[in-house]
Amino acid sequence: MAKTGKGESLGTAEGAVLGRATHTLHDENPVLNDTWAIELLGEATQREARDVEHQRRARESAPFDFRLILAVGIGSLRYAEDEVDRCVSEEIDQYVVLGAGFDTFALRRHDVANRLRVFEIDFSDVQALKRERIERAKPAPGQIPTFVPVDFETMSISEGLATSDFDSTKPSIWSWMNTIPYLTNEATEKTLAEVARLMAPGSRIVLNYQGKVPLTQAQIDYLKTLGDLVREGGEPMKSLWEPDDFETMLTRCGLQTIDHSTEADLFERYFRDRTDGMYPGMPARLITARPA
Ligand SMILES: C[S@@+](CC[C@H](N)C(=O)[O-])C[C@H]1O[C@@H](n2cnc3c(N)ncnc32)[C@H](O)[C@@H]1O
Repeated sequence: MAKTGKGESLGTAEGAVLGRATHTLHDENPVLNDTWAIELLGEATQREARDVEHQRRARESAPFDFRLILAVGIGSLRYAEDEVDRCVSEEIDQYVVLGAGFDTFALRRHDVANRLRVFEIDFSDVQALKRERIERAKPAPGQIPTFVPVDFETMSISEGLATSDFDSTKPSIWSWMNTIPYLTNEATEKTLAEVARLMAPGSRIVLNYQGKVPLTQAQIDYLKTLGDLVREGGEPMKSLWEPDDFETMLTRCGLQTIDHSTEADLFERYFRDRTDGMYPGMPARLITARPA
């Protein structure tokens, strides 16, 4: 089983990179200046992404204001990137991106390319499409990540990484953004327990998940529309965690939470000064953790 996009629809990996491409191309002061995002889109989608008028019409005809959830996704990647930069400054030289999809960190961050090896984990066919698009792209990538194909539901990340030159005796930084909602609780816990075992002292993981928190009626309606859309695209959301249960699960896995942030924290860090209507308007939970 694997994915990107059922029929004509973009999969979540492509949908996310399209959002980052249009944010970078058309919004002032992007929260994440993702100059490589446009390169990873199909040709027709690239043309639409560049076309301001097409983007305006797409926004007006969308069933909801997609910037509210896009801001959660982009803000989360920025949260991850800030932690990765902190870890690089501490000489950590391995970065594992779980559920990487069309993540562009390795491609665009020339400044860390000779100090940080990037490993990306996702479905093999998502990775195959990404490789094709990297090969077609005009700019030279900072580095080509090491692609490690794993299905979190049925496979082990330890076995996957054992085929690469990842070194679990050395500290590493991990991110798992915008993916846990699409997994069963069992796959999430099993994977995090493996991550904890693969982390040498000094390692970190940053992740986000969908929290079971009080919602306004507008948020309930919004999340229902979003949930229907991704289910129709073949990628149903499968998990919603009570925040306390999530922290307890991390402890069971051998991880210690050192930050547990919300969409309000994302707003304060990255969106406070924006006047373009882009802000994290849906609930978000973000964690930074280390081996216990
Ligand atoms: C919403 S996308 C997020 C991609 C990227 N992290 C981002 O923020 O742009 C979710 C990603 O999780 C991957 N994914 C979902 N279920 C998975 C599974 N069971 N095994 C491996 N990857 C999975 C999808 O292929 C997709 O790339």
